Amino acid sequence: MELRRATPADFEAELRVLDAAEGGLRQRHGFDWRPPPLDAFRSAHEYLLETDPDRSWVAVEDGEVVAYTAAWERDGHWFLSDLFVHPDVQAGGVGSALLERAWGDGPERRLTLADAIQPVSNAMYARRGLVPATPMLELGGTPRAEPGSLEPTATEPEALAAVDAAAYGFDRARDHAHWSEVQPATVWLRGGEPAAYSYRTQSGRLGPIAGVDPAAAVDALRSELSRAEGAVSLDVPGSARELVEAALAAGLRITGPPGLLLLSRGVEPPRALAISGYWLF
Ligand SMILES: CC(C)(COP(=O)(O)OP(=O)(O)OC[C@H]1O[C@@H](n2cnc3c(N)ncnc32)[C@H](O)[C@@H]1OP(=O)(O)O)[C@@H](O)C(=O)NCCC(=O)NCCS
Repeated sequence: MELRRATPADFEAELRVLDAAEGGLRQRHGFDWRPPPLDAFRSAHEYLLETDPDRSWVAVEDGEVVAYTAAWERDGHWFLSDLFVHPDVQAGGVGSALLERAWGDGPERRLTLADAIQPVSNAMYARRGLVPATPMLELGGTPRAEPGSLEPTATEPEALAAVDAAAYGFDRARDHAHWSEVQPATVWLRGGEPAAYSYRTQSGRLGPIAGVDPAAAVDALRSELSRAEGAVSLDVPGSARELVEAALAAGLRITGPPGLLLLSRGVEPPRALAISGYWLF
């Protein structure tokens, strides 16, 4: 088995591995499964190759990609985006070898998202000090909500940075440029000061939605829910309980099995955040 750096030419094969590995896991537990669209996979992973070329790896056997991983680093924080091994070669050490490559000599502060129904990956990460800290709930449906009271304004980099410091705990300046390619963020002001920001796509995907505190994030979420035309979806950590409560109060439902947010020692679970997604957090 050869381990080498991933390239854009690998994306279709990587998505086939994700489909076989994650689909197999979910179907064994009786959950529905649809693989992500290739365009979405390509956009996120092209971006990761641009920002973190040394952290995306594939394992190749007989000329075929049979496993892959991707990770990124921002402002002293490392995040594992993917680790998938084709069912034919699972439990043979490939996943551990790829994790070792993506891990590198990065920072001590580390985060990842894992399936709650997957003891193998949770054990692999916990042995490296990343322990489940809170569930990640997928919420969806057609909302009914009154807008919040914060005032919308145009995006300013300093405003986004101030909110990120509170909501994520690290800088996401680079990622805002990427997220804004789809749709610019709305910044929400409280007493004239930036208190939250929110992203939504035409297709109804919400996130990231972030606040300097839970009340600000909830206000931004309510405003996004009130202006949604049709169904929305978002991923919210259980630690952001006010956001979970607001989403449920707007008539959204929990869809699919929960994920888990795993954190290294010293990283606090987010209290005022609905994440961007499983690849970029
Ligand atoms: C999870 C996954 C990436 C692991 O890769 P893999 O190549 O199968 O795993 P490896 O053989 O490298 O290592 C698995 C390790 O977990 C250990 N392990 C397995 N089950 C375990 C359990 N219940 N508790 C503790 N450790 C366990 C194994 O003993 C092994 O450790 P060892 O090499 O020290 O003995 C792979 O199985 C996979 O893609 N699964 C389906 C999709 C998925 O769940 N992806 C992760 C999304 S978060």
